[in-house]
Amino acid sequence: MVEIGAGTGANLAAYPLGAISELVLVEPESPMAARLRTRLQSVGAAQARVVGAPAESLPLPDASADFAVSTLVLCTVSDPARALAELRRVLKPGGRLLFIEHVRSQDARVARWQDRFQPAWDGLVTAATATARRSSRFAPVASRSAPSSTGRCRSRSRSCGR
Ligand SMILES: C[S@@+](CC[C@H](N)C(=O)[O-])C[C@H]1O[C@@H](n2cnc3c(N)ncnc32)[C@H](O)[C@@H]1O
Repeated sequence: MVEIGAGTGANLAAYPLGAISELVLVEPESPMAARLRTRLQSVGAAQARVVGAPAESLPLPDASADFAVSTLVLCTVSDPARALAELRRVLKPGGRLLFIEHVRSQDARVARWQDRFQPAWDGLVTAATATARRSSRFAPVASRSAPSSTGRCRSRSRSCGR
């Protein structure tokens, strides 16, 4: 299993670690990766390792993962299409991508505000684009949109899928 942009490991608590033989947590930002390693030690996930790499260039073999996870990441990578192509490459045939992304709102009023703020977001180092692009290279199994209520992202709409 591979997770891109794992950050400080917010998803770790949701993983059935006993059922995962190998977990690769990809995180390119060194401070995040350091915190992630500390968290891994505290949960005792011996089968997990942190890899410092961008999602656009995964140092993983073709067809090596059953699952890939991306939560609130594709909105920050500079080349999301390339990141998705990499995920497709490392997933085994029939493998699944599980994702949560914030996207442009279907509410026209909210979408207009998102568009207004977009240039400001683009100017920030860890800017999040509110207009995550879709890739036709994955066949959606299920997806849903929901208003954001947790405040983890500043956008008000999210898309979740598998
Ligand atoms: C909003 S945080 C989400 C962290 C975590 N996935 C979560 O749900 O809490 C975005 C993460 O993507 C990482 N990131 C930024 N650019 C990336 C890239 N090109 N490839 C992989 N991860 C990247 C950031 O360092 C950060 O950890």
